[in-house]
Amino acid sequence: MNLILMGLPGAGKGTQAEKIVEHYGLPHISTGDMFRAAMKNETELGLKAKSYMDAGGLVPDEVTIGIVKDRLSQKDCENGFLLDGFPRTIAQAEGLEEILTSLGKELDYVLNIHVPEDLLIERLTGRRVSPTSGKTYHLLYNPPKVEGKCDVDGSELIQRDDDKPETVKKRLEVNQQQAQPLIDFYESKGYLKHIDGNRDIEDVYKDIDALLAETH
Ligand code: AP5
Ligand code: ZN
Repeated sequence: MNLILMGLPGAGKGTQAEKIVEHYGLPHISTGDMFRAAMKNETELGLKAKSYMDAGGLVPDEVTIGIVKDRLSQKDCENGFLLDGFPRTIAQAEGLEEILTSLGKELDYVLNIHVPEDLLIERLTGRRVSPTSGKTYHLLYNPPKVEGKCDVDGSELIQRDDDKPETVKKRLEVNQQQAQPLIDFYESKGYLKHIDGNRDIEDVYKDIDALLAETH
């Protein structure tokens, strides 16, 4: 299955992606995670991405399309993939079409997780992540078993740099501007599925799973 998970910052893309990839065995391709890993390793890509991410903006399309092209060309994507947070602009969506055509692949679904905007700030500022396992928590909605520690490997949970309130506001603004044109783009092509993300994490996943199980 070739899938895209779309949704504003904090909609629950990463949270649902963890469950989908575990169940369906797809590689999880999050451009945000790729940029964060590159920043941590201080690679050229990381240095390029840092200023945009710190400011809550978008990394330039040509850089982002380039890393997705390389990633989708890898062997583990032959039997499917889950893109999380890409594409985010029409130029990226068009770039993806070219990549998929060149690889002889076609999308199955674009899952758009919708959450009312006023809830997103609380979700983002309350998020905590494990720097080692990558697992995502929320102080109120998805707390770890032991306060402040990751269930998987016991590491200390941290807050993402871009989850500070001032950056969150900017990220939401930037992504809101891009969201509707992308929704229209994929709706017109017949790939779009709307997912109500304003429910418990498990209930959201049940809807996604029911949809994917039909295709699988
Ligand atoms: P990225 O890492 O993709 O960030 P984002 O799109 O802002 O999305 P988030 O990761 O913040 O949210 P999410 O939807 O994954 O929510 P999560 O599941 O964690 O990108 C970061 C940056 O990289 C961008 O700002 C940009 O600079 C750059 N970038 C990345 N891709 C790019 C691209 N294609 N083009 C250009 N630049 C790009 O959940 C959030 C919180 O809510 C968690 O605490 C979670 O536990 C909680 N939660 C989740 N679901 C629920 C629920 N149902 N109920 C209650 N709480 C919930
Ligand atoms: Zn995410």
